[in-house]
Amino acid sequence: MESNEIRNKFLKFFESRGHKIIPSASLVPEGDISVLFTTAGMQQFKEYYSAPLNAIRDFGAKNVVTVQKCIRTGDIDEVGDATHLSFFEMLGNFSFGGYGRQEAITYAYEFITHELGLTISFVTIYKGEGIVPKDEESRNIWKDIDSNLDIREDGADVFWGPTGNSGPCGPTTEIYCKNANGEDVEIWNIVFNEYFCDGSREKLDKGEAKLSKLETLGIDTGMGFERLLAIAEGKKNVYDTDVFNSENTREDRIIADHIKASLFIISDGVIPGNTGRGYVLRRLIRRAVRFSKEPLANKIETIKNLYKGIYNLDDEKEIEKEEKKFRETLEHGMKEFEKGHDAFTLFTTYGFPLELTLELAKEKGIEIDVEDFNKKIAEHQKLSQTASVGMFKGGLANHNEQTIRLHTAHHLLLAALQTIINKDIKQRGSNITEERLRMDFLCDHKLTDEEKKKVEDWVNEKIKLGLNVVRREMPLIEAQKLGAEMEFGAKYPDVVSVYFIGDSPKSDLGANAKEKKSLSPTSGNHVSIEFCGGPHVKNTRELSEFKIQKEEAVAAGIRRIKAVLV
Ligand code: GLY
Repeated sequence: MESNEIRNKFLKFFESRGHKIIPSASLVPEGDISVLFTTAGMQQFKEYYSAPLNAIRDFGAKNVVTVQKCIRTGDIDEVGDATHLSFFEMLGNFSFGGYGRQEAITYAYEFITHELGLTISFVTIYKGEGIVPKDEESRNIWKDIDSNLDIREDGADVFWGPTGNSGPCGPTTEIYCKNANGEDVEIWNIVFNEYFCDGSREKLDKGEAKLSKLETLGIDTGMGFERLLAIAEGKKNVYDTDVFNSENTREDRIIADHIKASLFIISDGVIPGNTGRGYVLRRLIRRAVRFSKEPLANKIETIKNLYKGIYNLDDEKEIEKEEKKFRETLEHGMKEFEKGHDAFTLFTTYGFPLELTLELAKEKGIEIDVEDFNKKIAEHQKLSQTASVGMFKGGLANHNEQTIRLHTAHHLLLAALQTIINKDIKQRGSNITEERLRMDFLCDHKLTDEEKKKVEDWVNEKIKLGLNVVRREMPLIEAQKLGAEMEFGAKYPDVVSVYFIGDSPKSDLGANAKEKKSLSPTSGNHVSIEFCGGPHVKNTRELSEFKIQKEEAVAAGIRRIKAVLV
C-alpha cells in the first residue's frame, strides 16, 4: 500500500466517524514556547483538554484527526536502526469531550484489523501508580473485542505526557504489531488524558510535580506513520518504505533521515544557528555531512521528490550553505583532531561540537575528558557573562547576530506603534529568538491591514535611512526626563544604560570615555530611546526588510505582534 493511500485512508476513516480533518501544525510550536519542536500530534491541541468548549469554537467539532509532522531528536544515536527517525509523521485522532475509551479503542482496533488487515500482536494497559488507578476499563474493552488478545500491564512507559513544562497527560493503551523481521513494534499509542500535570514529565517522574484530575476525559492518539507503513508494506525497516529511497547502510539511513528532518525544519522557517532550534538543525545537517562523502545535493533532490504534492519542501540552499561551511571546518578540525584531542580547543577554535568530537573519538577508540571540557566551557561562559552583565534582560533568548538585529528592530517597532497608532502605547512583554521577535503591547483594538502596513513602512524607512544606534550611560533622572521607554515593572539603578536610535552620527560613542561624557544624547534626532542593556547593531542599515507576520490578541486590551527580518 502506498504511503499516500494510508494517510488518506486514516483521515477518511475518522472523518466518517465524526472527526474534522485539521492540517498539520508547524514544526515550530505556536502556543507552547517550552518545547523546541512539535513532537506529537496533540501539541497543537493542548489547550482543548482543559477547555473542551474552545474546540467547538475553533473547529466546530469535538473530535479532530490529523497527520502531523514531528521532530524528535532525543534518540538521535538510534537513528539508522529499523524504527528510529528524527523526522516522522504521526497519525492521530483526538477528542475533547466527544468520546472516551470505548470508542477510542474500538476505532483503533477496526482501523488496524479491518482497514489495514493487520494482526495485533499484543496490547498494553497501565498498571496504576499513586493516584492513577490500574486501567481495568481498557482491559475489559479489549477483552470484549477479542477474548484471546494478549493484554500486558506496564508502568511509566504507558503513562504519557505532559509535553513541555506542564499540560494534559494520562494512562495509555499501546498497540504492537509484528514487523517483517518477526519483532514486535509499538505502532499506536492511545492516550486517555485524564490529568493535568503542573510540571514537566521529568519533574513528575521525580515526584516534584502534581497531577490533578481534568474535568473532561480527553483522547489523544499517536500512530507513528513510518513504522505503520513498514508493517503494512511488509518491509523490514522504515527506510525500505516508499517515504525513503531504500537506504541500505546505517550511514545512508542517517544521511537520509537528517536531510529529511532538515528540509522539513527549514521549510517551517528555521535557519541553522548556535542555539535552540537553529542548533538542532545545524547538528542534523553537520551529522549528515559527516556521514556523507558525496555532496548532499542529490539526496536532497530525491527526498524533495518523495514528498512532491504532499509537503512543500523548499530552501535547500540553507543546507548547502551549512554543508559548505562545515566541510571546511571538518577539514581543518580533522587535522587538529588527528594531532591531539582537546575537545575545548576543537570547539572554540574549529567549531567542533562536543558530540562530534565524542563521536569521532568513539570511532577511533579514544577517550575524551568530558569533565575537563565542561569545566573549561563553564569558565569560558563565566567570562563572557561577566562581560555582558545586565544584557539580554529584555526577553532575548540567545545572542546570535540575527537575534541582535531583531532586538534593534524591536525598538523600532515600539517607536513605530507609538508614532502611527497611538503615542501612549506601552510594551507589556517581549521575547526574541533568532527567528522572530514578539512584542505584547497595550492597545484597545485589532490593527487594520492599513495600520500594519504603515507600521512596517515606518520601520523599513528607518532601516533604509541607516540610523546610528548608540548606547549611553546616564543618571536615571536624566533618562526619565528624556522620556526613555522603560520596561514595565522593572527597577532601575541610579545610573542606567539607554539606547538611542537615530542619534547624530558624531555622537557615536565608540570613542574614548572623556569624549563620551561631553556628548549630549539630545543633540541627535533620535526616533527611539529605550532603557536597555543591549546588545544592538551599530546602524539600522544592518537590518534587512522588516515584516509583521502576525497580529493577534493575547488578553483583553493586549495585542501581540510577531515580526521577522526577511
Ligand atoms: N501523544 C501520543 C503520542 O505521541 O504517542
